[in-house]
Amino acid sequence: MSRIDALLGAMTLTEKLGQLTMTAAGSAVTGPFIAGDSTDAIRAGSIGNLLNLMGAEPVRELQRIAVEESRLGIPLLIALDVIHGYRTLFPVPLAETALFDPEVWERTAREAAREASAEGIAMTFAPMLDVARDPRWGRGVEGFGEDPWVGGCLARAKVRGYQGSDLSAADALAAVAKHYGAYGAVTAGREYAAVDVSERALREVHLPPFEAAVTAGVSSVMPAFTDLAGIPMTAHAGLLREWLRGRLGFDGVIVSDYNAIGELIAHGVASDRAQAAALALRAGVDIDMMADAYRYGLPEALQRGLVSAALIDEAVRRVLRLKERLGLFEDPYRRGTSPESSTAMAERRRFARAVGARAIVMLKNAGDALPLADSLRRLLVVGPLADAAAEMRGPWHAAASADGCVSVLAGLRAALPQMRIEHALGVDIDVEDTSAIATALRRCRQSDAVVLCLGEASLMSGEAASRASLDLPGRQRTLTESICKHARSCGKPVIAVLFSGRPLAVPWLIEQADAVLAAWFLGAEAGHAIADVITGKVSPSGRTPVSWPRAVGQVPIFFGQRPSGRPADPANRYSSRYLDVANDPLFAFGHGLSYGRFKLSSLRVTPESLGADETLAIQVDVLNEGRRAAQETVFLFTHRPLASVTRPLLELKGFAKIELRPGESATVTLQLPATELRYLGPDLQPVLEAGAVEILVGPCADRAQLLQKTVQVRASGASRLPPPS
Ligand code: GLC
Repeated sequence: MSRIDALLGAMTLTEKLGQLTMTAAGSAVTGPFIAGDSTDAIRAGSIGNLLNLMGAEPVRELQRIAVEESRLGIPLLIALDVIHGYRTLFPVPLAETALFDPEVWERTAREAAREASAEGIAMTFAPMLDVARDPRWGRGVEGFGEDPWVGGCLARAKVRGYQGSDLSAADALAAVAKHYGAYGAVTAGREYAAVDVSERALREVHLPPFEAAVTAGVSSVMPAFTDLAGIPMTAHAGLLREWLRGRLGFDGVIVSDYNAIGELIAHGVASDRAQAAALALRAGVDIDMMADAYRYGLPEALQRGLVSAALIDEAVRRVLRLKERLGLFEDPYRRGTSPESSTAMAERRRFARAVGARAIVMLKNAGDALPLADSLRRLLVVGPLADAAAEMRGPWHAAASADGCVSVLAGLRAALPQMRIEHALGVDIDVEDTSAIATALRRCRQSDAVVLCLGEASLMSGEAASRASLDLPGRQRTLTESICKHARSCGKPVIAVLFSGRPLAVPWLIEQADAVLAAWFLGAEAGHAIADVITGKVSPSGRTPVSWPRAVGQVPIFFGQRPSGRPADPANRYSSRYLDVANDPLFAFGHGLSYGRFKLSSLRVTPESLGADETLAIQVDVLNEGRRAAQETVFLFTHRPLASVTRPLLELKGFAKIELRPGESATVTLQLPATELRYLGPDLQPVLEAGAVEILVGPCADRAQLLQKTVQVRASGASRLPPPS
């Protein structure tokens, strides 16, 4: 008999429901504590999983109680939001996506897994795989931006990174693909609001990153808080049991979001905790995070005949199997026993600095204001985010302390010891007080150049951080206009460093500053990374994974829009456009300048006629006409001008990166299998239709900058291909 069968046969109902319960815990000076409960619940086996507990000692103590003082000694599953690092923070996920480098995406997850597991953590609630196209919603900062193809690449990289090659290894974390599904499409960008997307948008945009995670072997999935077309995801049997488990074959653990089962009552689909628990269990949710609906609701649901004992056993079996795959039964202390070496931690910070520099997107660099000229002697670093180490962490910072992060001011002072670097606050992030601008102006007059550090506070994005405005909060615009007016009058360069968890609609800043760096939230080494770019030690190479709107009225804004029957035509009032703002974004997806100057030419695509089992070879020549070495990213898009359904104006199908010295040129080659040209036909079944396909290659999702060729797809005998595996 297997261990799991033996345990199931021996477990009481309380112990079974304990394995389906995850409760928040923490550590205080008096020792570890459990939210709303005590360690007796662990001894009694009525809590089997914990979240939010940090520190090797408290983790080990609670694990010891479970293993040595409970009747069956089942180890605890210890989980935490390790979103972009544990104690050493990497750039937030939206910033990291700007590298367009799956190897780095995987390696930062691997480093975070090593650091967190070294203190006993065994599961992370990551990667977040929600497509985000409405920047009013705050959680885009936790994900990969607007494009599902990028989402699939990142999902695979992150699952490999967190879980490693052996989930039972001491440095492996169970990854959790969240928040399933379409959470980013909340009504009006308002957090936790209802979601309504078409079946096509669900299947072609929102689900593919989760499919990629399942194919990559993700251990767990977390449903979103939200309802989808009237059915809360936590009770969505169609998408959880039928699609995720049935169609995709996912056999891992589904863990609810925080109190989400209890919130089925507020959603209006459950009258009480017992009914809420029954709905979630029947939908396939295995672990109840922080609602205590399973622990206290399922016994009543059993009595009322709302669920069966077999359904409970099925869920317990999946949880025990995950614990077994994590090696927790073999050695519950395997994670957290061997502290990391100082060498490993130092190397991790060096890596975080390199990733930070590469995550920076240079939006503008008029007159080559950057890198700073060597002749400069006096620099003013001004603004509410100039000396704000804590803010560099972003909204999910796990066990990372503020003093472990480097501010812009500290980074620049370390990089430029010979320069006189003054600091001024100017204004706070979100306060209507301009009294300190005068001091900033006075110091500006005594400087040769200005670094203006503006943006959002780290908690103005992330969970529960929707904003109706995409402008800078407080009086940061007043500060900017005062500084830029003075600087312009005496030819001083103004470098704006913009910190945010979303693309901001700040055309006035782009207009006034000489150079603008999107610095998102870069984590532990933020200040050094920014200094490396500003001084020219590193050429910026980040590319924005989101379209930057001109105005909040444009959102949702993304390059993969479908055409209109009346495409925008400035000469035609009756065409798809606004009266007051252009349709296109301020900056297109993929935009990002470097210290090089790149020119693409000679696009070649073979074969010109493609069969269903063939692959396109796409080549383009890239020349660096600039004066400095730099890295270019080349994007591959397709478009179907004619099909049985309307197709997006651009679909991303690949990207490649190349480093070139000044004057150097090289050929970039991309491959595109015909199967990547499938889409869902009118009946929402995958098809590969005969016809013309535009192949477009270039630096960003701006058609005016793309080279284009057209090839013909010869549909195979059956134009219908088997559904994606
Ligand atoms: C939060 C978030 C989810 C997170 C969980 C545990 O409410 O929605 O992303 O993993 O609770 O902290």
